Amino acid sequence: MVLPRKHLLKVDSYQAGKPIEEIKRQLRLKDVIKLASNENPLGPSPKALEAVRKALSSLNRYPDSNSYFLKRKLAKFYGLEPSNISVGNGSDELIDIIIRAFVDEGECIITSEAAFLEYKIMSSLNCRPLITVPLKYFKFDLDEIKKRITQKTKVVFIANPNNPTGTYVTKYELEEFLKGIPEGVLVVLDEAYDAFIDVDDFPKSLNYIKRKNVLVLKTCSKSYGLAGLRLGYCLGSPELISYLERARQPFNVNSLAQVAAIAALDDKKFLARTKALIADGKSFLYKNLAQMGIPYVASVANFILIDTGRDGFVLFKEMLKFGVIVRDMRQYGLKNFIRVSIGTKKENIRFIKVLKKVIRFR
Ligand SMILES: Cc1ncc(COP(=O)(O)O)c(C=O)c1O
Repeated sequence: MVLPRKHLLKVDSYQAGKPIEEIKRQLRLKDVIKLASNENPLGPSPKALEAVRKALSSLNRYPDSNSYFLKRKLAKFYGLEPSNISVGNGSDELIDIIIRAFVDEGECIITSEAAFLEYKIMSSLNCRPLITVPLKYFKFDLDEIKKRITQKTKVVFIANPNNPTGTYVTKYELEEFLKGIPEGVLVVLDEAYDAFIDVDDFPKSLNYIKRKNVLVLKTCSKSYGLAGLRLGYCLGSPELISYLERARQPFNVNSLAQVAAIAALDDKKFLARTKALIADGKSFLYKNLAQMGIPYVASVANFILIDTGRDGFVLFKEMLKFGVIVRDMRQYGLKNFIRVSIGTKKENIRFIKVLKKVIRFR
């Protein structure tokens, strides 16, 4: 029998949100909605779609391995240089590249408990130990993380805002944290949901990339509705970025994703519609959850973590029967919780209706 490498047997692989078609097939349902992967409920950016259509006839060619035009576009967008940018097949891939580029044998990674799962999965796939620090009031406990840094620590992942809690680290908290961090420890600020932020004390992360031990991760998956195309990017000092460039595959970003992202960055109208929809949907869900007496964690992102007061997995399965896919939180160690992505008005109404039905089954 051919066995895989030993560590692979211990990897707890990523359980993605259930696809709509799978649930339709399995449960013989006609009408299913998915509020499980923090996707954009409006669909993809129309400008991006148009660019993709135009680029289809060039699919016989390999993509530009340096994402030349996209890097220039991103550089202009953020007031940086192309040498400050590395692009990935989603920010998921960049998490893997960061670990492969920086974390040597004998070194370790730190993050929070109940943080974005890819940190854990990519650490174990790369055979690098991951230390997780308990959440404090559902937030990253930066004081405790700092205390846990040793000579072996190489990378700290901070999801800001965090998925699945929706909580964020403030500018003050981040600055206090960065003050004592050794220069050889890389701090990764993962800002997949930054487009939804509407608070004044959120850190302006680009101010920190001059520090040479900070990288900022962003994605087009959420704000521009391009999750299916896979386009994430990393901003940092030219030196740090050059190591990521060495560690990546030559054609890691496909040509459609490159043109789509270039076009999406100009789609201000779509971004504004997305933000307005999420803000309205959040108020609606907060109001209804409060009326039902169901506790939730206040979120600055496009999803809400809900304390169901019972086994969240059971509730998740009950909701599936009514064609509503949410996310159970077993993999995050939050057994009694579910996470719901904010959808269209119609989807949010249906979610609340079904939640009322299944919560009554208690
Ligand atoms: C905190 C966080 N970082 C990164 C990602 C990955 O995004 P991408 O689609 O760019 O791989 C996600 C996706 O859910 C996320 O929640």
